[in-house]
Amino acid sequence: MRIAIVCLGNICRSPMADVVLNARLEAAGLAELVHVDSYGTGGWHVGNPMDERAAARLTRVGYDATAHRARQFSAGTDEDYDLVLAMDQQNLDDLRDLGVPPEKLELFRDHDPQPGDRDVPDPYYGGTDGFSHVLAIIERTAEALTDELAHDGGKEETRR
Ligand code: 4NP
Repeated sequence: MRIAIVCLGNICRSPMADVVLNARLEAAGLAELVHVDSYGTGGWHVGNPMDERAAARLTRVGYDATAHRARQFSAGTDEDYDLVLAMDQQNLDDLRDLGVPPEKLELFRDHDPQPGDRDVPDPYYGGTDGFSHVLAIIERTAEALTDELAHDGGKEETRR
């Protein structure tokens, strides 16, 4: 199972979700079965590490944010993935325009156990509080997604 998580710049939301989801999968013993990457629909930051505020927020609670380098999602990137998770509705629309088929395209917060707003808000232009809010959404959603994958894992395998 291969999952791509996509935001706009690939330096804040989707790399945070990539790191947190990978940590949850590792803890659940699913790291070998589920591969996660992240991308941006924009290309401004390609090759750059995570935004330093995003990295600091993750590091403060023990995650390793050092490995990330930004990548851009383009037409055809979805061929490497079973599931593409958009961080907000604009990202979802942009991914649809890039030709990602609807059956593999979802909002990340479709898996949020406390949905409200369906977007993970973009923290880039705001203050540091925004990164804490985003991390809380990401942590509970990654936890729920890991539980879903743990239960669906057998189904995914038999479908192939
Ligand atoms: P992200 O945040 O989509 O969560 O990575 C942003 C990062 C950079 C820009 C916009 C959003 N930007 O316009 O450069």
